Amino acid sequence: MKLFIDDANTEQIRRLYDLYPVDGVTTNPSILYKSGRDPKEVLSEIRSIIGNDPLFVQAVPLDAEGMIEDAVAITEAFGRETIVKIPSIPEGFKAMKKLKEMGITTCGTVVYTPMQAYLAAKAGASYVAPYVNRIDNMGYDGIAVTKEIHDILVRNDMDCIVLAASFKNSQQVKELCAYGVGSATAAPDVIDGFVRNAAIDQAVSDFCTDFAKIDGAEKTMKDYLK
Ligand code: E4P
Repeated sequence: MKLFIDDANTEQIRRLYDLYPVDGVTTNPSILYKSGRDPKEVLSEIRSIIGNDPLFVQAVPLDAEGMIEDAVAITEAFGRETIVKIPSIPEGFKAMKKLKEMGITTCGTVVYTPMQAYLAAKAGASYVAPYVNRIDNMGYDGIAVTKEIHDILVRNDMDCIVLAASFKNSQQVKELCAYGVGSATAAPDVIDGFVRNAAIDQAVSDFCTDFAKIDGAEKTMKDYLK
């Protein structure tokens, strides 16, 4: 499963890129707003941090023509590795079909139902993004919906993978990772949560304490091996 950072905070992106094996960055208009920065400036900085890794940027208009214009502007500004998120609504499907012909990679976003994802994939989207936690908050099972979408894509041999999104905790991500969905995007705090565990910290600390007892000094392996 590919793992993306769902954030536009460049400090956090730098930190996570330094520490974790992440695959790229996803954004949406709300995330850009929360960054408090000019969209072009912040997205350019993200591009410079992540190199040629996938960067997801959402088209804002709600009509197909406007979505296509935004998509062209986005890929011209941030490169062809940039994936344009298009809302999975009727005008969005129209835009996805055209963008596929134009060679621009898209992600069908704002996915709440399996058949919405099916239509986006059929329209040429390379990713579909079900909103796990938001679906849970509606009283449905976001994990089950996402698994169903994954099954639809695989069993219909569609050239599209799940980009599971909207997570509140690592358990939600883990379930989908175990199921083998293609990719997931999570906020820095959720990604940090994968290894936030007192037992891990204790075990690591115990190893250091025991090693220091060998001759009472703060040595590491390299000190013994020189
Ligand atoms: C991804 O495509 C979505 O924009 C994002 O993950 C939504 O997350 P939220 O429900 O935490 O806002």
